Amino acid sequence: MTTAGEYIEIANVNDVRSGEFKVFDVNGESIILINLDGEFFAYKNQCSHMELELSDAEIEGEILICPWHGAQFNIRTGDVVRLPASEPLEKYEVKVEGDKIFIKI
Ligand code: FES
Repeated sequence: MTTAGEYIEIANVNDVRSGEFKVFDVNGESIILINLDGEFFAYKNQCSHMELELSDAEIEGEILICPWHGAQFNIRTGDVVRLPASEPLEKYEVKVEGDKIFIKI
């Protein structure tokens, strides 16, 4: 979890459609930005199981499914809802101002 840092603009609210996510490079860090019914959530692009990328993950409702071994995470919290992962995803704080999305990094 990132505790210090500053908010950096990474996208426009229209860049990611509802029920989808996109990968952004922010300060050399690969970040996935998920749009869940108009709410945005950002995580490090790395599964907590074997640290593999989540770029090809799938979304089912409020669950993000890792493409590698099928671990599932709650999109709102990053918490594990299905093994083999046992640790939550690394989450970034998100704020939306107007049509701009910022994450704290
Ligand atoms: S790397 Fe994601 S479930 Fe194994």
